[in-house]
Amino acid sequence: MPAYCSIQFLTGLPGSSFILSRQPNLLPLRAASWKPIPLTSKGVKMELTVTRPDDWHLHLRDGDLLQAVVPHSASHFGRAIVMPNLKPPITTTAAAVAYRESILKALPPNNGFDPLMTLYLTDNTSPEEVKLARRSGVVFAVKLYPAGATTNSQDGVTDVFGKCLAVLEEMVEQSMPLLVHGEVTDPNVDTFDRERVFIETILAPLVQKLPRLKVVMEHITTMDAVRFIESCSEGQVAATVTPQHLFLNRNSLFQGGLQPHNYCLPVLKRETHRQAMVSAVTSGSRRYFLGTDSAPHERRRKECPCGCAGIYNAPVALSLYAKVFEEAGALDKLEAFTSFNGPDFYGLPRNTSKIVLRQSAWRVPESYTYASGEIVPLFAGQTLEWLPSNS
Ligand code: DOR
Ligand code: ZN
Repeated sequence: MPAYCSIQFLTGLPGSSFILSRQPNLLPLRAASWKPIPLTSKGVKMELTVTRPDDWHLHLRDGDLLQAVVPHSASHFGRAIVMPNLKPPITTTAAAVAYRESILKALPPNNGFDPLMTLYLTDNTSPEEVKLARRSGVVFAVKLYPAGATTNSQDGVTDVFGKCLAVLEEMVEQSMPLLVHGEVTDPNVDTFDRERVFIETILAPLVQKLPRLKVVMEHITTMDAVRFIESCSEGQVAATVTPQHLFLNRNSLFQGGLQPHNYCLPVLKRETHRQAMVSAVTSGSRRYFLGTDSAPHERRRKECPCGCAGIYNAPVALSLYAKVFEEAGALDKLEAFTSFNGPDFYGLPRNTSKIVLRQSAWRVPESYTYASGEIVPLFAGQTLEWLPSNS
């Protein structure tokens, strides 16, 4: 086991008679783990100490929703790449600086969480804005949303190779990473094929045209994306992976009725894709890192006739990632994924503080109430197995 990952086996702890390894409405990663496992019969419980993770893809929103959600991310993550798809979107460095201030104000006292800001790319973003962003010291990437692909993407890009080329060339000069929502928006393309078609028609040609552009393909969902990422130069093109895309397949959208809280974009895919992603992420490759894509929407905006895409996973993400690595027999690779590969790719220092993940059952709240309503987290009301804490 590498020296960086400290795993302790604790034996005979009280109160650990049963850990629900997997809930009935989750898909088994291994058939054997489908049933509750009496942990005491094994007599072993694990405790993992890892370098504090960062979240390289996070939606923090604004206003009272920001106030409600930021403590969940800030309690265990050191930094987060903050998505710019607000209304109106964060298209300028000045707006990013102001947004950062409002995030810092919403933090719990004495919390060192560091929001790393991004700009929202439009057809009209200027190369000058990229220079300003780099000089600001607070903007770390530019996000490409194909216009109409997802929440608040209506001001996104319609012409990557035409109107955006000059700005992308400036990003190469400034070593400013491009973060990509990798889905085409053509209504004639099947929803489940949108990522693959994006890779074929936009992303692969883009990487070929600008081989020195640093690119993060965000929230990958398919074996096509895994193959693409593996085909690119390491350190040049990387991918974030969410807990839901590692843990669930598209059956979970329909299990026992329509499940709006499992709906996100890109939408969950079939089981073979999930397995390819688990293999890639748990292989120890440096090309993949943690990005939750935690995307809260008020309950009524999810449970309605035209529900919003977005899964609120900030409170459960670390538990789920740990479970995926555990079931793949790759807990020794977890820390690189959660805490090393991201900062290494962005050229930032790794965090120095640690967190602890204990293999101990905990119950996810049914919802979180805030000034304007409620947010329902992923796996609301269910028992998860790995509990993060600061010591
Ligand atoms: O499910 C999603 N929700 N996917 C995205 O790309 C955006 C996000 C949001 O902002 O709600
Ligand atoms: Zn996102």
